[in-house]
Amino acid sequence: MPAEGTPAQRVVLGVTGGISAYKAVEVCRRLVEAGVHVSPVLTADALRFVGKTTFSALASVPAQSSLFDEASPIPHTRLGQSADLVLVAPATADFLARYAAGMANDLLTATLLATRAPVLVCPAMHTEMWEHPSVQENLDTLRRRGVSVVPPESGALAAGDVGVGRLADPASIVSVALAMLGGRGDLSGRRVAVSAGGTREPIDPVRHLSNRSSGKQGHALAIAALRRGAEVTLVTTVERPVPAHPRLSVVRVDTAAEMESVLSIESDKADVIVMAAAVADFRPKQVATKKLTKDDGVPNIVFEPTPDILCGLVGRRRAGQVIVGFAAETDDPVARGRRKFERKGVDIMVVNDVSAPGVGFDHDTNAVTIMTADETEEVPLTTKDAVADAVLDKVVALLAGQEGRTGAPGAEEH
Ligand code: C5P
Repeated sequence: MPAEGTPAQRVVLGVTGGISAYKAVEVCRRLVEAGVHVSPVLTADALRFVGKTTFSALASVPAQSSLFDEASPIPHTRLGQSADLVLVAPATADFLARYAAGMANDLLTATLLATRAPVLVCPAMHTEMWEHPSVQENLDTLRRRGVSVVPPESGALAAGDVGVGRLADPASIVSVALAMLGGRGDLSGRRVAVSAGGTREPIDPVRHLSNRSSGKQGHALAIAALRRGAEVTLVTTVERPVPAHPRLSVVRVDTAAEMESVLSIESDKADVIVMAAAVADFRPKQVATKKLTKDDGVPNIVFEPTPDILCGLVGRRRAGQVIVGFAAETDDPVARGRRKFERKGVDIMVVNDVSAPGVGFDHDTNAVTIMTADETEEVPLTTKDAVADAVLDKVVALLAGQEGRTGAPGAEEH
């Protein structure tokens, strides 16, 4: 929620006519819950899928759907001028074409022409339509004009089809929207590097050794840091939709060695490093140049340890830099986590008991213990976004403490 006395940020939530319009109800609800003022604008076709009353009941003001039926004679300019963000979810192929062409033939497209606020579109459509060159060209045009896009995900579509085109998860859409609004800003001017996902260590040209990490917690940390104003580098092994945002760079890596080389460069400029990645502890010593086959018999793979990236980063830590490690444990997590905190020399250790229900790998929820030198805080089962904010609250507190002792860390960088 916004701090008392702070005016709520205003989002125009555009809903266009696709089957996933029902998910926009959830987007609306979550934005309002986050303290945002939401004005829903539904196209005529959106009304074939969802009711205006649903949005009016959940949003901050009644939903609107026409340029002409409203009390105000010029609803589009009022909406466009007062918006801090225009978010369109779902965005159909037809809407994208009209927006890219600069048309203003309904309240939503007229509002988009009348706004100077940042715009986020979340396309959703069948795979064939999504892959059609005209849709991609319209999106390229919009991206060139500075429009941000949360791409669709792969999964079940209408009428039993499966493929790319499904609207991104409402929680991710809201997270990106909040990031674009700038949020609390308590990390503004800070550089944050986050690692995410399980590394993949090759065995031969077709096989690798990996683990069950989904990268969701690391990605949530990167988006939360972005929302709190940081300049973020996300070093990730997973393909998850991330927003196109001027303060976010995404580097895709596979192996521990690749992750280490990217992070060692980042560590020279980062104020904060969060090692949320599940880095393989061992890798095959030799990578076969040709695919191993059954004809060769059972392979005898010799392993060697991977570099401990986190220990390396702690060893080269700049003055004032805050380093966060993660520990996934199944046995006596708090005691083991505290020992790992000491051994790795980190400032914060986030411990997951991955044997508990709903915790850790691949879930959308998590429960953690956040350890610093002086404190041990339990965060009970909640969303990975909320865990990300709890971790960043600790980071912000440590940065503030260090500033008091040593002056602004990395001030020369900004
Ligand atoms: O020792 P353990 O693997 O449990 O430590 C987990 C923490 O150390 C995580 O923050 C992980 O990203 C990091 N790590 C690393 N390099 C490794 C193994 C773990 O940076 N080779």
